Amino acid sequence: MNVLLHLILSQATSAPAVTAPPAGYKSGWLLPPQASTVAPQIDFVFNVITWVCIAFFVGMMVFMFAFMGIYRRRTPGQKALSQNSHNTALELTWSIIPTIILCYFFWVGFTGFVNLTTPPADAYEVQVTAQQWSWAFTYPNGHTDANLHVPAGTPIRLLMRSNDVLHNLFVPAFRTKYDIIPGRYTREWFTVPPEHVGEYPLVCAEYCGKDHSAMYARVVVHPAAEFPIWLDNADPLKRLKEEEYAQYKTDPDKFIAEHPEYAGLETPVKVGEKVHSLYCRSCHTLDGSASTGPTWKGIWGRPERVRVTATGQEADVTVDENYVLESVEDPGQKVVKGFENVMPTFKGRLYPRQIDSLIAYMKTLK
Ligand code: CUA
Repeated sequence: MNVLLHLILSQATSAPAVTAPPAGYKSGWLLPPQASTVAPQIDFVFNVITWVCIAFFVGMMVFMFAFMGIYRRRTPGQKALSQNSHNTALELTWSIIPTIILCYFFWVGFTGFVNLTTPPADAYEVQVTAQQWSWAFTYPNGHTDANLHVPAGTPIRLLMRSNDVLHNLFVPAFRTKYDIIPGRYTREWFTVPPEHVGEYPLVCAEYCGKDHSAMYARVVVHPAAEFPIWLDNADPLKRLKEEEYAQYKTDPDKFIAEHPEYAGLETPVKVGEKVHSLYCRSCHTLDGSASTGPTWKGIWGRPERVRVTATGQEADVTVDENYVLESVEDPGQKVVKGFENVMPTFKGRLYPRQIDSLIAYMKTLK
């Protein structure tokens, strides 16, 4: 009941809009498309169990209603027609056949489970960090993305951890689903056949708090040959040389227009917006409402009353570049009054150009 109430409330309040399924995503009959190598096997087990149960249910009901009619009491005080206590052949039949069927269920279920929990040794690894209420996917070259990008035809192993509570990474189209447990790593793996290049929804399947329903991302499956190109270009900001970065900062629009070789390069404000939605959104709202941390609406230049942790004294600060830098790298030093000292450090997780961009974005939040 409580869970239901929270779900309703989370829809009614400031939950970020849940993104619709990607364009071109076609659901099958009852089940999503079978976009991984294990999906047909899982659906097969599901269908076999469902149809066997339906067959037994229908069979039992037909006999039950038929016998109710055929063998009903016809006259008051009528005795049962047969006085047989049992029938050995019948009892053996209805014990042995279901036992064989159950052994078969166990066998297909068990082999499927072993397959699902054993990633191939040569799998491509992507690190997943789950936190209330967003996903972060980190690739071997250090790039972190809000969506999961993978090459088709390659086994992918997700090494998953949680920053806070229990989550669960579920890609319905792949039929793979695994808990992400605080304090330990868990794994999940899949291979997308090349004919299933496209985009698929990825959701959190474990109730994890107010905005659980908005903990949503996409799996973007690239053709195998195009994935390395995507990965190389995924973070053009990182690839700018120092002097180029200086030009870019002076006039981002001009620099982007003149340097088509940095495909996908965006203005600092845009980059900052992405950083916010990737790392900050769950605690810092943009609409003026307080969350785990202060809202970012009108944050730039705002006077804040803070508690200085080292001295225990209160002080007044103004939100400027240095205050933001300190709050990103060592958030426990000064804590805004009325909030808990719970923010994790982002030192090493955000690189300097991302922090520059975040500041540029904050300045636009009037
Ligand atoms: Cu994370 Cu539900």
